[in-house]
Amino acid sequence: MMFKDTEQHTALRRTIREFAETEVKPIAFMLDQNNEFPEAAIHLLGEMGYMGIPYPTQYGGAGLDARSYAIAVEELARVDGGTGVILSAHVSLGSYPIFAFGTEAQKEKYLVPLAKGEKIGAFGLTEPNAGSDAGGTETTAVLQGDHYILNGGKIFITNAPYADTYVVMAVTTPDIGTRGISAFIVEKGWEGFTFGDHYDKLGIRSSSTAELIFNDVKVPKENLLGKEGMGFKIAMSTLDGGRIGIAAQALGIAQGAYENALEYSKERVQFGKPICQQQGIAFKLADMATKLRCARLLIYSAADLKEAHEPYGMESAMAKQYASDIALEVVNDAVQIFGGTGYLKGMDVERAYRDAKITTIYEGTNEIQRVVIAAHILGPAGR
Ligand code: CAA
Repeated sequence: MMFKDTEQHTALRRTIREFAETEVKPIAFMLDQNNEFPEAAIHLLGEMGYMGIPYPTQYGGAGLDARSYAIAVEELARVDGGTGVILSAHVSLGSYPIFAFGTEAQKEKYLVPLAKGEKIGAFGLTEPNAGSDAGGTETTAVLQGDHYILNGGKIFITNAPYADTYVVMAVTTPDIGTRGISAFIVEKGWEGFTFGDHYDKLGIRSSSTAELIFNDVKVPKENLLGKEGMGFKIAMSTLDGGRIGIAAQALGIAQGAYENALEYSKERVQFGKPICQQQGIAFKLADMATKLRCARLLIYSAADLKEAHEPYGMESAMAKQYASDIALEVVNDAVQIFGGTGYLKGMDVERAYRDAKITTIYEGTNEIQRVVIAAHILGPAGR
């Protein structure tokens, strides 16, 4: 396995970085303060062909590899953690299950506009009583003639209410646990499908997060993804890939904070020399750089395994857990290097400090990542 960006990766990184620097960075603080979704930037990203990076061109995607997707999320998150997760949730959670489990007709109808960036995707798994215990899903889908009738609700849904297409998990056969859960493609605008209030969050405030409410929503039978009872496995394998995206988001947030702190440490003079020449700061920078490199290598190893169609669930859990854990350490050190200045609103490191925290929580808390890793190492005994 080669841990070096290819020319194609380098070129993509340059393009996305330029986009992020010109289209996102100048508005990132305003988006954060206003809790505002970067609609124009996301639209532009779609026009540039980057909302469907890892999907084949025949489905409207860019036909690039999983590492390219991770690079894109990282580069967006480097300037704005919220914009990074918009892409991640759209590609990994909203689009992937349709790509991997959809019929040709479902792909044509739903994946193509998602991959082209004409529509935005989201994923409805979490509920008030089904967070870490995703198998505790209570939303129901009851077959009546040609439709399933969907009732219940989802919480903490990234990209809602902006998303057009939702992959939603619901119980079709009660009392048999995870094997009774099915996955459905649900469109915004269908009668009975409404949204709760936007959440007002600590960080990633440019990404929107809202509740989904289903009140007798008629979902056509042909919108069942896979077969009845496959929903939990669809959700779990979707999250295997999604965790690469969140790892890349965490890495990007931390990378941005590190670069800012590095630059500042060269300019800030105390005791007659730049603070980067004080060993206390130099060692911090050394540790930050090392952690970032470890996280990047873990992420690329998971992405390359996914690309090679090899098992990668353990590696993506490791990447997500490690990258988000070190992201918190790195942003903390970055604020420390800035001192009081870094604590001020409007400073990029202050926003990064707030943005980073969620990455240890969503797409499976880091405690759940360790459950997944331990189960891979130990089998059922690891639970
Ligand atoms: N791929 C395919 N199948 C899988 C799988 C995987 N990765 N993991 C488990 N399964 C299968 C199992 O093989 C098992 O199959 P059988 O019924 O045939 O035996 C079935 O699923 C049930 O598996 P478990 O017994 O392991 O399930 P569990 O109820 O013990 O739960 C868990 C396991 C890992 C804790 C799981 O509930 C989990 O991942 N929880 C965290 C949920 C999560 O990550 N939520 C994130 C929401 S999305 C989000 O956060 C997005 C955002 O905002 C950006």
